[in-house]
This record gives sequence, structure tokens and C-alpha cells, in this order.
Amino acid sequence: MTPTNSAPPALTAGTWSAPGRVNLIGEHTDYNDGFVFPFAIEYRTSVALTTRDDGRISVRSAFTHGEDAVDLALTELDAIFPERRDEIVEWARYPLGVAWALLQATGTDPASVPGVDLTFASDVPVGAGLSSSAAIEGATASALNDVWGLGLDRVALARAGRRAENEAVGAPTGIMDQMASMLGRVDAGIFLDCRTLDAQVVDLGFAPAGLELLVIDTKVKHAHSTGGYGERRAACERGAEIMGVAALRDLEVDDLARAQELMDDVTFRRVRHVVTEDQRVLDAVATLRSDGPRAIGGLLDASHASMRDDFEISVPELDLAVDSARAAGAVGARMTGGGFGGAAIALVDHELVPAVTAAVEAAFATAGFAAPHIFTVNPSEGARRDA
Ligand code: GLA
Repeated sequence: MTPTNSAPPALTAGTWSAPGRVNLIGEHTDYNDGFVFPFAIEYRTSVALTTRDDGRISVRSAFTHGEDAVDLALTELDAIFPERRDEIVEWARYPLGVAWALLQATGTDPASVPGVDLTFASDVPVGAGLSSSAAIEGATASALNDVWGLGLDRVALARAGRRAENEAVGAPTGIMDQMASMLGRVDAGIFLDCRTLDAQVVDLGFAPAGLELLVIDTKVKHAHSTGGYGERRAACERGAEIMGVAALRDLEVDDLARAQELMDDVTFRRVRHVVTEDQRVLDAVATLRSDGPRAIGGLLDASHASMRDDFEISVPELDLAVDSARAAGAVGARMTGGGFGGAAIALVDHELVPAVTAAVEAAFATAGFAAPHIFTVNPSEGARRDA
């Protein structure tokens, strides 16, 4: 006899994964309520989950052979985040912070959900500006949402990831990376309005146009929980306040002349980057739709110049990556991510990939820089349950 009205069996084990991302264009616009256009990549972080019956959460990573494992009671999370976060080893703040943010977002009593063991493995390069952190957050949020039966949608999971990053880790980032990791689609970019979180999936069409997207990881490490990132954010907030708007998103390129009269030169240049970058995202999406990916090269180049000269978040290695890729025939190139290190991207004809790679490597060797790691990426699927 088939039982009726029975609850589905509780999910006690599984594997989930979420990708890193490349931002095609729209840098430091997300926390200004503006526009971004990232895509998820094929490098992913996966988490194997099993439930436990003692109300505890443990996190361990395959990359540190379990040495960085943390195990605590779910009821302790509230006491630890955000004030006592420093007691937790840094990498573990991402998954534990997501667990905390999910319980908070849903008003769930930590004593009412099963304990979990989470084991992470990842092939997303760390510190390369490819959002290895958003990949951990997306995998964790997807797994816990299913196992704890929270019923949250992908945008809510992205928000929990961002809250973890902001409050549990202490990095004052926007929501781009989490949204890209949750919403990614094969061969498509995510055109996101960071004020409304309205997301459109836009075909990128790289392969049909004979193009590849090359990532040039400069190996210069960066961290957004310290220094420059927060300073840039503060300058943007100052600029918005001087202009009397809620966020720089509310300014147009035509407002810049007035902005220049009202603020100091540094603040003005920070503002000019964000306002023109928002416009470049809109132009890139429109150009892609009308003329295909080959036509966006100039916008990528202009974005890099704006980050180098106005926002001042590039480093010599990123500039050299961009300049040497372009000189070797790239359609367009720019640094990607938060800056101060990490990776550049270059849109390159398929048959020029070996030549551009060799040219960038040679330029780095001549400059005495550490050898970069250069590889192609493909727009890929967002977070999912794998098993
Ligand atoms: C980092 C942050 C994002 C975004 C970018 C810059 O990747 O995590 O929220 O601000 O920098 O565009």
C-alpha cells in the first residue's frame, strides 16, 4: 500500500557545488547600487554534507587536509558572529557565517535543525579575484537550504552569502559575486541591477564569434577585508553624500561637471569611475546584443583605464597583463574583481590564445615579475546539487 500524506524522507547527505566568477565589466559599481555584468566559470567549490544528531556544525577543507577543521554547536553561532568572529580561523568564517546568516534570515531556531558535517574541496584559484569566497558561500547556502528545508530562493541565498562576507568575515563587499555564483548559466552573463537585484541572463556568444576569454592571474594576492577596498567604498559614499543622492547609481555622466566643482580631486575621480563604469555596463550589454562580443573590446579597455587612473586600484602587474595582451592582439582587456592584485581578463581570438599567452609571459619575465597563471574560462552553470 502506498502511504498518503507522508512527509518526504529527510535529506541526510549529499554534495552541492557553486562556481567562482569572472566579472566581464562593472567594477566597484555593485555597492553603489549600480550595474554589473559577471559570469560564472567552470571552476567550482563543492561541499559534501552529512547530518549529525548532536546539533553541532563542523567544517573542514580537503585543501588543508582537515587541519583547519572547526566544530561548534549551532546554538553558539549567534554569540560568535559578528562580534567574536576573530576567534574562528578565517576560511571557516565563510561557511559558518553562511549557516549563521541563513538561520537569522529565516528566524530559524538553531536547536530545531539537524547538525551537519561539511567537507569542502575546490579548484577555484584562491586570491586571484575569481571569487573563491562566493563559491564557498554558494555551495554552503545551497546545501543548508535543502537539508534544513528553508525554502529560500537563489537571490535570498546570495544575500545570505553577502551577509556572511560582510559581517562574519568583515569584508565590506557588494553582492555581485554571490549573485553570479548563484545565477550563472552556460554561455551567458548575468546583467544585474544591484539596486533591485533584477537579473537578466544575456547570451555572450564567445564561441560562435571565435573568441576565448583568457584569465591572467598575476599571483599578486589581495584581501578585501583590509585597506584599499574599504577606502574606495568610503570615498564613493562621501561622493554620493556631497551630490545629495542615495547612491552613485543615481548620477549620470552629465552630472560629472557639477560633481567636479563640489568635491576634492580624489573623491571626484572615484565618483567619475563609478558613474562612467555604470554607463559602460549598459553600453556593453546593448553592444553585445546588437553587434556581438567582438564589439565590446573598447569598453573593456576603457574600463581598465578608468580603474587604473581614476579609481587607482590596479597594480603594475595588472597593467602589464592588460597592455601586453592587447599589444599581442587581444580584442580588449581589463583587470577583473576588486583590484590591488588578482587577475586580468582578455578577450582573444581562439587562434591567438597561444601567442597572447606567450607574449604576456615574456613581458612578465622581462619585467622581473613572478610568472602569471594564464588559462581560459567558459561561462558556466551556477550553484547546484550534484549528488
Ligand atoms: C569584489 C567584491 C564585489 C565587487 C568587486 C568589485 O569582488 O566582492 O562585491 O565590489 O570586488 O567590482
